[in-house]
Amino acid sequence: MTNLTEASIEIIRAGQSSSGGYAACASFSQYGYSWLRDGTWIAYAMAAAGETSSAEAFHRWAARTLLSHEGKVERLLAKLERGERLEEADYLPTRFTLDGAIGSDDWTEFQLDGYGTWLWGAVQFCAGKPELWAALRPAIALTVRYLAALWQSPNYDCWEEHRTQIHTATLAAIYGGLTAVRSVDAALVPDGLPERIRAFTFEKCVAPEGHFVKFIGNPEVDASLLWVALPYRVVEISDPRFVATLAKIERDIHRPGGGVYRFRADTYFGGGEWLLLTAWLGWVYAELGRIDEARALKAWVEAQALPNGQMPEQVDTHALDRTHIAPWIAKWGTSACPLLWSHAMWLILDLRLKTVSG
Ligand code: BGC
Repeated sequence: MTNLTEASIEIIRAGQSSSGGYAACASFSQYGYSWLRDGTWIAYAMAAAGETSSAEAFHRWAARTLLSHEGKVERLLAKLERGERLEEADYLPTRFTLDGAIGSDDWTEFQLDGYGTWLWGAVQFCAGKPELWAALRPAIALTVRYLAALWQSPNYDCWEEHRTQIHTATLAAIYGGLTAVRSVDAALVPDGLPERIRAFTFEKCVAPEGHFVKFIGNPEVDASLLWVALPYRVVEISDPRFVATLAKIERDIHRPGGGVYRFRADTYFGGGEWLLLTAWLGWVYAELGRIDEARALKAWVEAQALPNGQMPEQVDTHALDRTHIAPWIAKWGTSACPLLWSHAMWLILDLRLKTVSG
């Protein structure tokens, strides 16, 4: 039987360019880029698995890449200062080529969550590494300024949809990134900013029923709402608002005995069950001490791996709307496999469960 730890590390290594960037899925037509969101979690998993040089190479790549686009950020901030309207091309992208360039094809680029995620991940990785922190600091400072200017702007969510909305999970990632930076380098973060973001989230992103919502004005849940507590700690995992969110996620988008959907109305490749989100729910269960349930989700993820250990982005056996599968395949080819982020979240859950006795 394939050893999934070894296979995952091998697959991630193979997807990392010598520049340090990770291709989200090199074999899928659209995913040959390095996303800050995917990359940060891949690096986090690699560091947890002892592959620190891979994680360091990613963070150095991210910092180099962001600084190489410093002029773009300065122009954007100057425009805002002058009260001018921003164009789509003024924003930083959500993904870069492995060389750190901005891709030339059309993409839903303006997404802020990856920037918050990267800040959060960089802080975790730099703990006890002051020299590395000093090396990343200019890019971190630039990212904080970018987020401080834009956090209230509608932008695409972490699934690259709904450009005109403000998404709870995105606010959570920004909050998590900024609080992480502040905890190690308070001078970089404007006074009170994380608190303003949190207060805004509580005011706008909680349904009358008490759970967090997908985006302002949409009362559905989305699996990315797990991030509100784990890891970004907008609220503690025991907070009643998170408890209600988790219960609704379990009811609405976790298939009993199966995996987790992104959200109920998902049609991307038919809206299948996502491995990385199933592992995330398992991670939440592990934090809550619901170890048997965490293990069951881990086993489900493992059962979706191909015999050679490769893990797909999603599986369509119980897709939410099968009529959307063929059109996506016709457009972009079969859905992504192996998806490095799936491997990363499985590794994180597996390592977390290995620390639990029994
Ligand atoms: C997902 C994003 C992800 C990207 C690359 C998209 O389909 O919605 O969350 O960053 O794929 O994996």
